[in-house]
Amino acid sequence: MKVLGIDIGGTGIKAAIVNTITGELLSERHRIDTPKPSEPKAVAKVIKEIVKHFDWKGPVGCCFPTIVVDGQCKHHGNLSKEWIDVKADKLFKKECNGIPFYVSNDADLAGVAEMNLGAGKDKKGKVFVITIGTGIGSALFYKGKLIPNVELGRIYHTDGKIIEKFASDSARKREELTLAEWAKRFDVFLNHIKIIHTPELFILGGGISKKFDNFKEHLTVDVPIKVAKFKNNAGIIGAAMYAHKKNK
Ligand code: BGC
Repeated sequence: MKVLGIDIGGTGIKAAIVNTITGELLSERHRIDTPKPSEPKAVAKVIKEIVKHFDWKGPVGCCFPTIVVDGQCKHHGNLSKEWIDVKADKLFKKECNGIPFYVSNDADLAGVAEMNLGAGKDKKGKVFVITIGTGIGSALFYKGKLIPNVELGRIYHTDGKIIEKFASDSARKREELTLAEWAKRFDVFLNHIKIIHTPELFILGGGISKKFDNFKEHLTVDVPIKVAKFKNNAGIIGAAMYAHKKNK
């Protein structure tokens, strides 16, 4: 089935039409910068523009970069605080003339794509899909089943600061870290997760995962690591798969 998948990030909003059975992208990716400030109205306008760009009239799956329960934001993440308690699915549906929207956490949906069709296929133990971008997203799977909204990027690191402020890709850019300096920070994060969760596998996604071969030598964590098969498209694909499943 063909579904439009949209990945709303802290920096960019990306979309494509997806074959939800194979995970293949059936269109070019279309990207628009995340509006600043990233208030609900402004983001909804961009979603409308994207739907118009694809001339899309069917169901839409949407990854959202915050805690989401039943389509409703429970935390603002790296977006405007105005998102708290907003029903994102209803807001986007209203903005786009009533077409159905299915919205869930970005890392959880990237994880859905990777566990069903990608690097985590057939893995039955505890697996974490970690997306590294503006924030650090995390999805936990056990026996192939998603345990939603795990939010590992929000654990404290030092001085009451959350660890994604220290080890995300935006921290690397902001502090102009070398890849090695950043990887050593990310390794602190992975080692911490290893102690508290004992995963059998980490799957890394987000733009920087493409550079894995250039930074893996700085990772000491004693857990197998794979790069997301769908790289930075995992969110778009997982979002489309989610909408396909929910729209039945
Ligand atoms: C949010 C998560 C999100 C991650 C990646 C974090 O700031 O709390 O919900 O998955 O960023 O976008």
